[in-house]
Amino acid sequence: MCLAKNHTQYSFGFTSKRHLSHLDAKLNDAVKQKLTNFDRFQRNFEKLTVDKYSELVTNETVRESIQEIIDIYEREKYLTALVPETITVSQMQTLLKETYTQRLHYFKYLYKKEMYKRKRNIRKQVASELVDEIRNGKPQIGIHYDPETNSPVYGLWKNSLFINLHSSYSRQFDVKLYNAVLFGQPLVFDFSFESQMNSKCLTSMCKQIAYAIGVNRTYDDPFSLWFCNLKQDSETDTRLLKTVGNLYPKFGVNKSFINVHNCSYLDSFQKDKLVYLTPDSDEELHAFDSDAVYIIGAYVDQTFGCERRATIEKAKSEGLRTAKLPLDHYVHINAGKALNLDQVLSILYIIKHTNCWVEAFQSLPKSRITTKINT
Ligand SMILES: C[S@@+](CC[C@H](N)C(=O)[O-])C[C@H]1O[C@@H](n2cnc3c(N)ncnc32)[C@H](O)[C@@H]1O
Repeated sequence: MCLAKNHTQYSFGFTSKRHLSHLDAKLNDAVKQKLTNFDRFQRNFEKLTVDKYSELVTNETVRESIQEIIDIYEREKYLTALVPETITVSQMQTLLKETYTQRLHYFKYLYKKEMYKRKRNIRKQVASELVDEIRNGKPQIGIHYDPETNSPVYGLWKNSLFINLHSSYSRQFDVKLYNAVLFGQPLVFDFSFESQMNSKCLTSMCKQIAYAIGVNRTYDDPFSLWFCNLKQDSETDTRLLKTVGNLYPKFGVNKSFINVHNCSYLDSFQKDKLVYLTPDSDEELHAFDSDAVYIIGAYVDQTFGCERRATIEKAKSEGLRTAKLPLDHYVHINAGKALNLDQVLSILYIIKHTNCWVEAFQSLPKSRITTKINT
């Protein structure tokens, strides 16, 4: 590649996800290596005696039971070594209440717990060694050439085709988003379904919202996003902060140009402009209306095939117009007609700018579409 010869390049640290996954793989390999050399028979086993558990000994029967447990422990230690290095008083207390088989299971459980702890410590130690190694190999300005082939070399701390993305990079989106807040078409996400989602669905919903925010930022004419019925400090609020990170507008601090409200869209928009998008509507959205305020339910169902009709019911109870995307006319869709939140946003954006449903539905992942009917 002569590209590097014509341009001065800089080697930066964590410039891409690839570098990070490379480091992660290196870390995993090092941990694996240390663990394969580990021999569970060669641990620092404590020599157990009944005296260690004297506070538990209330009578002769208990003393005998403790001795019995220690005997089983000693035997397992030499046969399988699937026992912990020692047994604490409280663990002995538990063991006293258990049967022979349960005791064996408990030893194994304690062994696994110990191994887990060991692995975590090894990982921590290896990671800090790796960080030291990286810190010592400081980035150097200039092009790095392979001494043998004399061609540029690529990789960590060498030449990089990626520039380091500073936080200022995100500012290039600011102007568009600023315009969107002032003049853009509002697009509402309705967050009133938290109580109807289990933890898995909530996680998935937050991820989809993160994608939606991300993709909207890349558009030339982004939507003005409104998050309605989102309660401050609710589970959704906390999770969104975790999932979306810096791009999530905390209540009161709005760097991402998203309107976050704990009140309803009914308080912010004229009711006759609102159109609730829902896959269960009888009406189809034939053309995009630039005056309408479309609402997307921030709701993810548990499983395909037993979807709840949550959004249609809510829209009907509020007396709102509803519409579904005209999927049936253009595509055969796999696994249910309910699309992801970010997919719906992308379709709306494309239909708004092209007025072509075929193009809009082409934005769906190929795995979700079987055949295109009308082109
Ligand atoms: C995963 S869907 C939720 C489906 C759920 N059964 C419901 O009651 O809406 C999430 C949201 O995306 C929008 N959506 C998904 N697929 C749609 C479609 N085919 N037509 C219209 N809106 C759709 C709706 O706003 C919906 O609330």
